[in-house]
Amino acid sequence: MSLVGRIGSVVLAGALFACSAPQQKEVTLKDALKNYFYIGAAINTIQVDGEDPQAIAVVEKHFNSVVAENCMKMESVQPEEGVFDFADADAFVAFGEKNNMKIIGHTLVWHSQAPKWLFVDDEGNDVSRDVLIERLRTHIFTVVERYKGRVHGWDVVNEAILDDGSWRPSKLYQIIGPEFVQMAFEFAHQADPEAELYYNDYNVSTPAKRDGIYNMVKDLIDNGARVDAVGLQGHLSMDTPTVEAKEEAILKMASLGVQTMITELDITVLPWPSRRLSAEVSLNYELMPEYNPYPEALPDSVNQALNDRYVDFFRMFLKHHDKIDRVTLWGVDDGQSWRNGWPIRGRTDYPLLFDRAYQPKEAVTRIIEMAQKK
Ligand code: GLA
Repeated sequence: MSLVGRIGSVVLAGALFACSAPQQKEVTLKDALKNYFYIGAAINTIQVDGEDPQAIAVVEKHFNSVVAENCMKMESVQPEEGVFDFADADAFVAFGEKNNMKIIGHTLVWHSQAPKWLFVDDEGNDVSRDVLIERLRTHIFTVVERYKGRVHGWDVVNEAILDDGSWRPSKLYQIIGPEFVQMAFEFAHQADPEAELYYNDYNVSTPAKRDGIYNMVKDLIDNGARVDAVGLQGHLSMDTPTVEAKEEAILKMASLGVQTMITELDITVLPWPSRRLSAEVSLNYELMPEYNPYPEALPDSVNQALNDRYVDFFRMFLKHHDKIDRVTLWGVDDGQSWRNGWPIRGRTDYPLLFDRAYQPKEAVTRIIEMAQKK
């Protein structure tokens, strides 16, 4: 055989060997966690529309559940009474279906990001109780029936309880009374009897709030509502809540005989500008340099602490996986997280599992290893 022929044979054999050698498939978050709980991400319209393909690649690779970050909120879906705009929500649901994901609708009834018309009449006065109930009924039926059999679960009511465990004095509460929660669950259940229904709130680890939510959900169930799970938003900081406080909240909610879900997980590394730790979205503070300490990069020590904190929480989630249906990150990568803009606009935060270059943080590898060893 000529030299050229011999080299050719070697190259061919090498190529054949490369094709037949077993390829080690990279293990992803959704693979590693599949026996324990869904792993989800909140996605936005820019991503769904294909304008952030690297984020979408991360979602398709690592996550098996999606929730709409904003496009299913009432102000987006029904900006004017009777005028529904489903373009973004339709695209979101189609994305989830294309990828065989558990699709979560967020959120049917919430005092925030509600359209201005909802609570008032043409003169700007509060509407009557009956009118508001009818408006909620129409909204819930229209939205839930549209996605019947396609959206698997709904955050029916968001944030009805305050940190001290009392009812939030929202217009919903003031005009209808506490029954608005029960009504919302009933309307959603009638509109799609198969859909899972959830109550969702933040600071659920605060004992007074935890107990207030527990009592409210217990009443709902005792009064015949379908409640599949309580969603514990996970907008955490580096020191609150403790893993133990979150664990207690999970166990307390699970004692109602419902599942729990960690619904909006992110961990801010930035200083909080007030002693009042809250996820109240209306808060906003002026940008001051001491509140934006890492504009270029996260120091190694802080990065390490962040990764450790993520791993500590996931260790606890895995321990209680029988009580946790889903863990959802509130966003995909650090660059697009809402945390960069709240409660102070224009900061640089590092709250998610994927960095600004869409690369997995060390915590991702450690969570995967931990789940595989279980
Ligand atoms: C709350 C809501 C979410 C989102 C976050 C902040 O937690 O449930 O939809 O608006 O606030 O972005």
